[in-house]
Amino acid sequence: LFAGAVNFLKSAPALEFLPAPTAPEVAFAGRSNVGKSSLINALTNRNSLARASTTPGRTQELNFFDVGEPLQMRLVDMPGYGFAKAPKDVVKRWKWLINDYLRGRAVLRRSLILIDSRHGIKDVDRDLMKMLDDAAISYRVVLTKSDKIKAAELEKTVKAITEEMRKHPAAFPEIIATSSEKGTGIAELRAAVYDAII
Ligand code: GTP
Ligand code: MG
Repeated sequence: LFAGAVNFLKSAPALEFLPAPTAPEVAFAGRSNVGKSSLINALTNRNSLARASTTPGRTQELNFFDVGEPLQMRLVDMPGYGFAKAPKDVVKRWKWLINDYLRGRAVLRRSLILIDSRHGIKDVDRDLMKMLDDAAISYRVVLTKSDKIKAAELEKTVKAITEEMRKHPAAFPEIIATSSEKGTGIAELRAAVYDAII
């Protein structure tokens, strides 16, 4: 998977611009700056397919990437949520866009909820999880930036979050710890994406 061509398909600033729902999708959600775009690049072995940046609020639209052979599918890079410094109306617009897409997309097979290994799950993440639980939409937690903390610390975080996820009915029970920088957990994440769409 992801050995062949991966191409940018479309950017959707609002729901009316979504591409036709003709292939299964896996979406990357999470707080601003958590590493969504970087993870899509690591997953697909591309340096700058999805635009990443040190400044939070980089991704402002739903970006669709077509994955060709051997499986027709799409990866969806989303704007971050919980970005306190962005103007209120922008935060609201992104939140609606994310929520409406996640709740209403028939071809969405799984959402990956990215959580920074150092920070753990925050209330904005819990709000999104609750929405997905209530709507019975499948999701899975992926820890990011695991290179930024010590192994023992990471193990603790993985345990605590795995425990918390038991209480979420729509959550896939096992979480994956990744580092886009070091390549840790990327093979496992590929397998998880494959799992979600076959
Ligand atoms: P928005 O689009 O603004 O919501 O951000 P995003 O979630 O797409 O994050 P992005 O991929 O742009 O990464 C944010 C910053 O974190 C960048 O400076 C990345 O280089 C850095 N980063 C991402 N992943 C990792 C990682 O695994 N390890 C380290 N050390 N840094 C990372
Ligand atoms: Mg981004």
